[in-house]
Amino acid sequence: MADKLIIFDTTLRDGEQSPGASMTRDEKLRIARQLERLKVDVIEAGFAASSNGDFECVQAIANTIKDSTVCSLSRANDRDIARAAEALKGANSARIHTFIATSALHMEKKLRMTPDQVFEQAKLAVRFAKNLVSDVEFSPEDGYRSDPDFLCRVLEAAINEGATTLNIPDTVGYAIPELYGEFIKNLRERIPNSDKAVWSVHCHNDLGMAVANSLAGVKIGGARQVECTINGLGERAGNCSLEEIVMAVKTRRDYFGLDVGIDTKQIVAASRMVSQTTGFVVQPNKAVVGANAFAHASGIHQDGVLKARDTYEIMRAEDVGWSANKIVLGKLSGRNAFKQRLQDLGVQFDNESYINTAFAKFKELADRKSEIFDEDILALVSDEAITPEREQYGFVALSQRSETGEQPFASIVITVDGAEARSQASGNGPVDASLKAIEAHVKSGAEMVLYSVNAISGSTESQGEVTVRLQNAGRVVNGVGADPDIVVASAKAYLSALNKLHSKADRVAAQG
Ligand code: KIV
Ligand code: ZN
Repeated sequence: MADKLIIFDTTLRDGEQSPGASMTRDEKLRIARQLERLKVDVIEAGFAASSNGDFECVQAIANTIKDSTVCSLSRANDRDIARAAEALKGANSARIHTFIATSALHMEKKLRMTPDQVFEQAKLAVRFAKNLVSDVEFSPEDGYRSDPDFLCRVLEAAINEGATTLNIPDTVGYAIPELYGEFIKNLRERIPNSDKAVWSVHCHNDLGMAVANSLAGVKIGGARQVECTINGLGERAGNCSLEEIVMAVKTRRDYFGLDVGIDTKQIVAASRMVSQTTGFVVQPNKAVVGANAFAHASGIHQDGVLKARDTYEIMRAEDVGWSANKIVLGKLSGRNAFKQRLQDLGVQFDNESYINTAFAKFKELADRKSEIFDEDILALVSDEAITPEREQYGFVALSQRSETGEQPFASIVITVDGAEARSQASGNGPVDASLKAIEAHVKSGAEMVLYSVNAISGSTESQGEVTVRLQNAGRVVNGVGADPDIVVASAKAYLSALNKLHSKADRVAAQG
């Protein structure tokens, strides 16, 4: 039987550390559920001690997720570790991931600690964590740039204290595949009790080699856990991308000889959900999940694929969740067909009133758009408007005028805590005028740090999906809105961002 490669997803922790990618608790829960459907082995849900918001996210995910292990990051101190254990109390399967930097540079300049102090702290941290949960992961931060002799000492002690996983981060994305693989191999060969723990890779993508380095850590180094994120989200240039590493190991099983438990058909839905939630658009030529990843433009390629798919395709689009039949529903489709389609797309719903609201929105859209694609449905159900009872601001109607040589003008009707309010403004263009009209009434004072429009399904008949990122008083939130009219989509996205900015329950502070 082949070995199993453990997939550890850190989209909700390392991924969220990406500037502008902070997520609310509800968004994190939705993504965690999708990660569970994807069958990832471990979900790193956050860094419980970093803020009350993060604690609540880890706790909510631990209480909800049943099939994946839920993990919290913690620094190597008792307070952080106890907080992580507290947040994880409700989990079916819990892991504490504790870390401390071990490179000379980090120890001296950042921690201002001697190697002996770091050694002691690492040992005590693993010991303390092991008293609280059985599943303990230890990471020497900046491990790849650490002195191998010192690393051997620390890692051997961590195993002796009960660490079950040892993770070797390439924190700054400095590694080269062959060297990183050899680095891990060397550690495993030198540490006498190395077989008592699972070895793990955690690579950042600063030089664009996170996936290649992770694969080398697996193939050459013998690691059996990969830490990765959906769409490669993460600090700076990001982390190793889950979809790429999973499909590499699956597609080249002949070479790696490893099994992965991932349900690959859920990959595209996960990618889309993360992109929509964070506002980080997936580039069209991105491997596996980019819009063009399976598109054949040249005549020679198209001809080849029609004759035999494997002439130019090494993976099947359906296997990663691209639907073969993209036109799915129309005006005449009934509630049952809609509900079935939601189930096929892996959309989770808890009650019939959710379906009723979503179906009403679908009918509204079908009246205005003849063909409804899977992407339209996913945008529709990710729209926060589906839970109107929680919204402070809602969209009602918009009229705007723009004409060459005239200053654009917009008049908008919104709801504020259920009561209608009207306002007007002019602006540089119809979108600018519409958002200024909202702001004229709401007076949030928020700064817009991102505005992006994306055509959901290609043509001018498509819905426009707009992401707005707002910043206010140290908080950054993303709002997404979709509509065939991009000015309306922009207004919806702006209102959605305002709702998040004003929501107290979902308040998530930045990482520590
Ligand atoms: O990149 C890194 O070193 C990390 C550790 C906390 C595992 O994210
Ligand atoms: Zn990292």
